[in-house]
Amino acid sequence: MKKIWNSKDLCALADHSEEELRVILDTATAFKGVGERNLKKVPALRGKTMVNLFVEPSTRTRISFELAAMRLSADVVNINASASSLEKGETLLDTARNLEALRVDLIVIRHKSAGSARFLADRLKASVINAGDGSHEHPTQGLLDAFTIREKLGTLEGVRVSIVGDILFSRVARSNIEILTKLGAKVTLVGPPTLVPKTFESLGVRVAHNIDEVIGESDVINLLRIQHERQKTEYFPGLGEYTARFGLTRKRAEQLKPECLIMHPGPMNRGVEIDSQVADGRSSVILDQVTNGLAVRMAVLYLCSGGAPFAPITAS
Ligand code: CP
Repeated sequence: MKKIWNSKDLCALADHSEEELRVILDTATAFKGVGERNLKKVPALRGKTMVNLFVEPSTRTRISFELAAMRLSADVVNINASASSLEKGETLLDTARNLEALRVDLIVIRHKSAGSARFLADRLKASVINAGDGSHEHPTQGLLDAFTIREKLGTLEGVRVSIVGDILFSRVARSNIEILTKLGAKVTLVGPPTLVPKTFESLGVRVAHNIDEVIGESDVINLLRIQHERQKTEYFPGLGEYTARFGLTRKRAEQLKPECLIMHPGPMNRGVEIDSQVADGRSSVILDQVTNGLAVRMAVLYLCSGGAPFAPITAS
């Protein structure tokens, strides 16, 4: 079988072909079964060491990578950036080179600067996996979102996905756009013009500024958090107005098709971009996304370590 995945790193979904992205999803499908077993461990990365280098806060992604490495039998070290020598002025590259000197095989990095993962990947022999770099990309989030849609709907081809919220500052949105458009979904970005400028149309997506015009046609609605930490000015008058115009309120959720999937990458601001009851309702797949993230991250760690891809289990 031809080896389709040849990269030691995963920095951005924009770097990878449709075929490569399908290989990750198919490999993740095989790994998902491991998490359903009593003995949730395989020896695929025995003897390898992974470091979680999170220089920005995280709950889901950090723990998910840690568990993924453990389930593949790798050794794991978590670095608390605020208690590391980064705080004393050591450069990111010097920190990473010291990790490599300790014979670390995989570095998972989250950093506020766009391009930080690629910067390290180009300079290290170790594998570098991007766990979110500024507003640029969050590749494993894009993969787990695509995996969840494909798992629930059977395909991505022709699926209408509306991504609502702070697109301008969202690495989640950029990775979703990359994978969903490559795999045949029809993506609409929704939000105020200040956060969803028409220039996004050059990425092969539709832009809409009125959620009520698209909500009834969506097969999937993905709500994004307002990223106050990245905004240097106010992009809309206030949170109350944002919720009234773009939030998935209970009233607005009544317009959704009954089979529409409700997604959110987390962390959620309940009552702002999504009503609390809607977030916990029958159509929500928010916790399925978290479960699937583990399988996707197992697949990414395995493939970037040189593992042979698994054959497709699903058709598209
Ligand atoms: N979705 C996501 O990246 O969540 P965390 O910030 O908790 O990792």
